[in-house]
Amino acid sequence: MGANEEVQDTPGAPDLNVSGGEVKFENVTFAYDPRRPVLKNVSFTVPSGKSVAIVGASGAGKSTISRLLFRFYDVNQGTISIDGQDIRNVGQSSLRAAIGIVPQDTVLFNDTIYYNVAYGRPGASPSEVHNAAKLAKIHDFVLSLPDGYETMVGERGLKLSGGEKQRVAIARTILKAPPILLFDEATSALDTHTEKEIQASLGEVATGRTTLAIAHRLSTVVDSDEILVLEAGEVAERGTHNGLLAKDGLYAKMWQRQQDATDQDELAAFDDKPNTLDDLDLDPDRDRDRDAGEAAE
Ligand SMILES: Nc1ncnc2c1ncn2[C@@H]1O[C@H](COP(=O)(O)OP(=O)(O)OP(=O)(O)O)[C@@H](O)[C@H]1O
Ligand SMILES: [Mg+2]
Repeated sequence: MGANEEVQDTPGAPDLNVSGGEVKFENVTFAYDPRRPVLKNVSFTVPSGKSVAIVGASGAGKSTISRLLFRFYDVNQGTISIDGQDIRNVGQSSLRAAIGIVPQDTVLFNDTIYYNVAYGRPGASPSEVHNAAKLAKIHDFVLSLPDGYETMVGERGLKLSGGEKQRVAIARTILKAPPILLFDEATSALDTHTEKEIQASLGEVATGRTTLAIAHRLSTVVDSDEILVLEAGEVAERGTHNGLLAKDGLYAKMWQRQQDATDQDELAAFDDKPNTLDDLDLDPDRDRDRDAGEAAE
């Protein structure tokens, strides 16, 4: 039955033995439905302690790569290995213990903020939990709440913003301190300030760890050791940021498009200031019409 069946441990499968945390995809082909391949012959290596970023259009198969690494599904062809061990041949709990995921959509438990962070490492002390929250740049925000760390979050509690939820997930991952990290950047637009804070938090946790980062905003991948551009399930381009810009292909186009969009956003961020050069033309009716005009663009 394939896709929806839970992947099973081979009886007696040994635990994953992590030395450096090298992640290797070799000719990985995968389909949720056999009639529609999602990944085709994908190969890459994240050397121990290095970072690889995956970029590409929505639906290209980026999150699928992270689901396969976490072994929610098994590959149809090819191999995924960590430090030379095929992940199909090791116990799932040991595999998952070695990987920290900051997912695209963080789902929090209907419990306190403290519980949600502490979940990263059962038995962590309160000062370890607070430290992780500090590194994730969420501690001061939590202390500003009337109930502090005892604030209930989730469906029946305080609704955190996308960025706040993500920082809780980052704090949880910092506490877990796994050798391998997997970031699936949120699609939802974060404001520039929050994005910078989250990037700083991620940088904090990624230092010295093997990192696979799925990114929507290219500004977050410029320092990656290698960038893969995934197109319709295939690696279309690969290289460093500068190498890919020099190639003047897909990546360079995406970069240019995002630079243009960022320039627009930054202008728009100054709400009370002129949005465009045209706004300097002080026609009293312009401001009133502006929002409607932008919405139509
Ligand atoms: N559980 C599933 N069952 C069937 N098809 C799926 C499933 N999950 C994803 N897909 C399909 O696989 C393709 C790749 O999905 P994936 O989630 O990997 O995309 P993505 O590159 O992460 O996109 P985004 O940037 O929007 O997050 C999509 O066409 C999607 O519809
Ligand atoms: Mg995705």
